Amino acid sequence: MKIAIIGQGYVGLTISAFASAHFKVLGFDNNAKIVDQLNSGISHIEGVDSSLIAKAVASGNYRASSNGSDIAGSDVVVIAVPTPLTKYRKPDLAYIEAACTTIAENLSGSALIINESTSFPGTIRNFIKPLIEKLSAQQLDHMYAISPERVDPGRTDWDQKNTPRLYSGLTPEASKKTREFYSTFCDNLVEVSSPEVAEAAKLFENTFRQVNIALVNEFAQISHALGISVHETLEAANTKPYGFMKFNPSAGVGGHCIPVDPSYLAHVAAAKGVPATFIERANEVNLEMPKYIVARVAADNGGTLSGKSVQVIGVAYKPNVADTRETPAELVIDELKRQGAKVNWHDPVVGSWQGETSSALGASDIAIVVTLHDAIDKQAVLHSSPYVFDTTGNLKGAKGL
Ligand SMILES: NC(=O)c1ccc[n+]([C@@H]2O[C@H](COP(=O)([O-])OP(=O)(O)OC[C@H]3O[C@@H](n4cnc5c(N)ncnc54)[C@H](O)[C@@H]3O)[C@@H](O)[C@H]2O)c1
Repeated sequence: MKIAIIGQGYVGLTISAFASAHFKVLGFDNNAKIVDQLNSGISHIEGVDSSLIAKAVASGNYRASSNGSDIAGSDVVVIAVPTPLTKYRKPDLAYIEAACTTIAENLSGSALIINESTSFPGTIRNFIKPLIEKLSAQQLDHMYAISPERVDPGRTDWDQKNTPRLYSGLTPEASKKTREFYSTFCDNLVEVSSPEVAEAAKLFENTFRQVNIALVNEFAQISHALGISVHETLEAANTKPYGFMKFNPSAGVGGHCIPVDPSYLAHVAAAKGVPATFIERANEVNLEMPKYIVARVAADNGGTLSGKSVQVIGVAYKPNVADTRETPAELVIDELKRQGAKVNWHDPVVGSWQGETSSALGASDIAIVVTLHDAIDKQAVLHSSPYVFDTTGNLKGAKGL
């Protein structure tokens, strides 16, 4: 079987690495630089080892390409392209649309087309299938299925092999073929009754996290006003053996999924005339955490940050990854600058970001820890500044949420 995987980012390259142990895989990406690197055996994705890609290239089972015609003859095509929000925070399906165009223009035989990109219920049935049919020169009998991706970058205990994978085809035959494909590298496949259930389950998983993170962030503010420790209170609540799940307060949410996916659910809810008030409120609370944190820091420092040197420590959106997409560190830095602080940032894992390179951990009036990577020396952080505010709850001896 020949497999084409459209998009060679976090999701697409991870799948390519697993699938190329069993099939001939063509990794299609419209970024020619990434394609060149991959064909030289260099992975640009944390969690996908370069040695794995080099081995797959050498075996002849994996090749990357930015030439759409190379997907011709594929038996299975997996779509793994970004699904961001527009500037009005609405679903942006432009990348999926472009992937459908590549499929329609280059497949001359029928294939199983699986969408792994996160999107709202109805995307495979009402958007991808009709679009490919409309754009194809000849009518082919493609099968369509959804299998939302659950990869958690940087995580090693749960991966493609042992994380249960949801799937559903538009027809029983599509479901059967989808199961056959994934069962070569995934141990636990869970079929659901329709693609819409699989699409909605993915959105609800991330909405559950978004809402609970917002809830604990609001609770951190309430705890501070009450003069009690949010962390001690959460530990206390967590001694209950049932009916409670601990989430930790933070500077907000980041990454490609949690700040974005719930708005896809809110979009379809609005289209059906159903309010999605929890999602909207959770967005507000999480997006306002950076302002709350900077206000706390200013209050502890004589009420003004004007002219003070502030070092922001950890700009990735979570520990031990270099991913800065939607990172709350950006909002923290913006707010500090707006209040007149002189800001630099230190992140040995990210290294360079927004055209700047990480500063060495140095002396400043104030240090704010947004993300605490294992590679950051905690004692050095505590000694770097007379005032250290830790948003993570993992730096004993610092002020914090
Ligand atoms: N990153 C995660 O942790 C994660 C987890 C679960 C689901 N998802 C979902 O998976 C999808 C992909 O996310 P990602 O993190 O892999 O994105 P990414 O930005 O890491 O990678 C996407 C890749 O697609 C390429 N691309 C864009 N348009 C293309 C096109 N028309 N043709 C070919 N290549 C194209 C880009 O160059 C990029 O390399 C999104 O819907 C996302 O929400 C991501």
